[in-house]
Amino acid sequence: MPEAMPLRATVAAPETCPTVVPSFAGAIQPILNAKCNNCHTGFPQPWALMSYDDVQAWALSIAVDLTHCAMPPADAGTSNMTKAELDAVLGWIVCGAPNN
Ligand code: HEC
Repeated sequence: MPEAMPLRATVAAPETCPTVVPSFAGAIQPILNAKCNNCHTGFPQPWALMSYDDVQAWALSIAVDLTHCAMPPADAGTSNMTKAELDAVLGWIVCGAPNN
């Protein structure tokens, strides 16, 4: 981890599980495919965030990175996460990252 990681901003994670739990297959995976998986495909690039098991194992790190706007990196070439995308992914993690 580089010492001086530039943080663009921070966003608030939802504190309670939303009434309608975002669906991993229907909502979360497509967001990660669009915003993360141009890089996170696995060796030799950063580890995969492709399958449910990959994402579930990294859920807390993902929440930390997303609330600090650390991923996707500023120079990723992908667009930043929208508010709706952040709410969906962070809400899903607060619900316990279910395979739904
Ligand atoms: C431009 C390529 C790229 C994109 C796009 C990208 N990442 Fe990363 N990610 C990396 C690299 C490289 C590392 C490992 C080096 C590091 O820690 O900075 C990493 C590390 C991580 C880590 C490990 C913890 C950490 O901060 O070191 C997590 C969790 C993560 N990424 C989640 C995500 C999520 C979620 C997205 C999409 C919202 C995403 N990444 C998009 C390249 C990318």
